Amino acid sequence: MCGIVGYIGYREAWPIVLKGLKRLEYRGYDSAGIALIDNENLNIYKKAGKVKELEDFAAGKNLSGTIGMGHTRWATHGAPSDRNSHPHTSQKGNLSIIHNGIIENYATLKEELISRGHSFNSDTDTEVLIHLIEDIYQNNNIQLTEAVRLALNEVTGAYAIVIMDEENPNQLIAARKGSPMVIGVGEGEYFIASDATPIVEYTKNVIYLNDNEIAFLKRDELEVKRLDNVVQTPYVQELELKLEMLEKGGYEHFMLKEIYEQPRSIRDCMRGRIYPEEGKVQLGGIKEFADKLKNIDRIIIVACGTSWHAGLVGEYLIEEYARIPVEVEYASEFRYRNPIITEKDVVIAISQSGETADTMAAIEMAKEKGATIFGVCNVVGASIPRISHAGVYTHAGPEIGVASTKAFTAQVTVLTLMAFYMAQQKGTLSNSTLRELLTELDCIPDKIQVALQSDKLIKEISAKFKDARNCLFLGRGSGFPVALEGALKLKEISYIHAEGYPAAEMKHGPIALIDEEMPVVFIATKNSSYEKVISNIQEVKARKGQVIAIVTEGDTEVKKMADYYIEIPDASEAFLPLLATIPLQLLSYHIAVMRGCNVDQPRNLAKSVTVE
Ligand code: AGP
Repeated sequence: MCGIVGYIGYREAWPIVLKGLKRLEYRGYDSAGIALIDNENLNIYKKAGKVKELEDFAAGKNLSGTIGMGHTRWATHGAPSDRNSHPHTSQKGNLSIIHNGIIENYATLKEELISRGHSFNSDTDTEVLIHLIEDIYQNNNIQLTEAVRLALNEVTGAYAIVIMDEENPNQLIAARKGSPMVIGVGEGEYFIASDATPIVEYTKNVIYLNDNEIAFLKRDELEVKRLDNVVQTPYVQELELKLEMLEKGGYEHFMLKEIYEQPRSIRDCMRGRIYPEEGKVQLGGIKEFADKLKNIDRIIIVACGTSWHAGLVGEYLIEEYARIPVEVEYASEFRYRNPIITEKDVVIAISQSGETADTMAAIEMAKEKGATIFGVCNVVGASIPRISHAGVYTHAGPEIGVASTKAFTAQVTVLTLMAFYMAQQKGTLSNSTLRELLTELDCIPDKIQVALQSDKLIKEISAKFKDARNCLFLGRGSGFPVALEGALKLKEISYIHAEGYPAAEMKHGPIALIDEEMPVVFIATKNSSYEKVISNIQEVKARKGQVIAIVTEGDTEVKKMADYYIEIPDASEAFLPLLATIPLQLLSYHIAVMRGCNVDQPRNLAKSVTVE
C-alpha cells in the first residue's frame, strides 16, 4: 500500500526520493507526490497516477533541496486525485506530512479543528493529522517535536508518517505505529522508507523503527523517543538485501524473474535446515518451543490471500505427518470472531510482507489469549516476525511482482519443513521415512527447474485461452489449495474471472457454468485422489468444457481426455503442491501479458496490505 520515502543530507533530495518512490511502486498505489525545501521554501508536487506522471509534471520546476520526502498513495479516504495525494499541509502551509495507514478518529478530530477555524483541502484523514499537530504546536508554545508527540497520543489507528517544517529545513520527523518504517543511516545523511528497497543503494546500515516510536532526524544527529517520552537507543543493523535483487535481471517482468527464481529460492529456504542423511530437520527459529510441540492440542493458521492458500497446504501436511489438528483461518474473519484460543494453542501466522494489518491484528488477539505465535514471513525485520514469539523466515528474497509466486512456494516449503519438524518432535514419522522424504525434498528445486521447461508449451496454451471470460480451477487433496492459488493468480493479473474449487464440489453448483466456452484447469497429478479427479474430468468433458490438465510425467489416462496437458515431474504427494503451482503461475503470466495487462502492478492491488 502507501509508500514513504524521506531524505535529509548533503545531496539533492529529488532524485533520491523519486527513485525511492519508483522502488516502492510494487507496493501498489494510485497517486504520488514529493515535497522539498529549498532556501526555506516548501515546494510540493503531487499528481494522481503513476510516479512517471509526477516526474513529467515536475519537470522544469524548482526541484532543489537537500531535504525532501515522497509518497505513493493507495486511496482509502477520498478518491485518487491530485488534491487527495500526499504531501498534505497545515492551515498555515509551513508543515507538511506524508502518511501510510489510517487515522481512525479523524472525523471527530476534524470536527473539533473546524470549530477552531481550520479548513481542509482534501478528503483525507492525513490532512487532519497535520492540522492537529499545528493546532497543538501553535496553542501550547512548545517545540514542533513535542507537538508531534502530543498529537500522536491523541490519534487512534495506524500510521507511518514523515513531517517537514518549511521554517526548519534541518529536520525531518518520522513516527510509526502499525505501519512499517526503516531509517537508513549514512555519513551526514539519513534515509527513511517504508521498506529497505529505496535505501539499499546508499547504505547497508538501517534502523527498524518500532511501534510508538518517533525519530527526530537532523543531518548528523538522530534521536528516537517513545510516545510516552522515554528516549530510546536505536539498534543499527546490517541489511542482507542486495541491489541486484531489485532489478529485473534481463527478464521482461519481475513476476517472470521471480517464477524462474524458484529453484534457487526454495533451495535458499531449505539451506541449513534439512539433513537428509540423518533424517533430521532443524528450525532454529522455533527450537525454543520444540518441547511444547510434543504436547500441543491444535494449531491455528492465520493468513490472507495467497498466504492463506499456503496455510491450507500446511494443514494437509501437518495433519498427515505430525498428526496435529490444524485449523486454517482468514485473519480478517478470525480477528472479529470470539474464537476459543487457549495457552496450549500454537498460532502460525503466514505473511510474505509481514505487514498485513488483519494478520497482525489476529496475532495480537491470539497473543492476548495466551497462544504461542510462530511467524512465517519473507521480509526480514518486518512487523510480524517482531510481534511473534518465534518463527521461520522463508528467505525467498525480495518479491517485487505484486502477485505472489516465489514467496508462495517458499511458504509452502517452510510449512513442509515445519510439518516434518513437528513429526520429528512427536515421533509420528520414523527416522527412515524422514530420511526418504528429506532426500526427495532436497531434489525438489531440480524438479522445479524441469517443470519450468514447459514454459514454451504453456505460452502456446495461453494463446488459446487469452480471451476467456471465466475459468475454473479444480483439484482434490492438496491439489485443492493449488487450484485456489491458480485461480487467484489468474484473476489478479489478467482480470479474468476465475474460481478454485475442490473438484468434487463441482457437482454442487459450478457444473452449471460448464459449456464449450469454459476452460477448466485440473490438478490431475498422480496422488491419492487421481482416479476421482479422472471422473471429474469426464464430467466436464461430457458437458463440452475445455480441459487443461496438470499431469505427472508419463501419465497416459488424463492425457487421453484432456484438451491440453502440461507435465510436471513425479514426486511424493507431499511435494506435489510445490511442483503443480509452477505451470499455473506461467499460465497466468502469459495470459496476462497477451491481454496487455500490467502483470507486475495489477490494478487496485497492493503488495503489502497495511490497512484492514
Ligand atoms: C498475492 O498474490 C496477493 N497479492 C495477496 O493475496 C497476498 O497474498 C495477501 O495480501 C497477503 O499478503 P501477505 O502474505 O503479505 O500477508
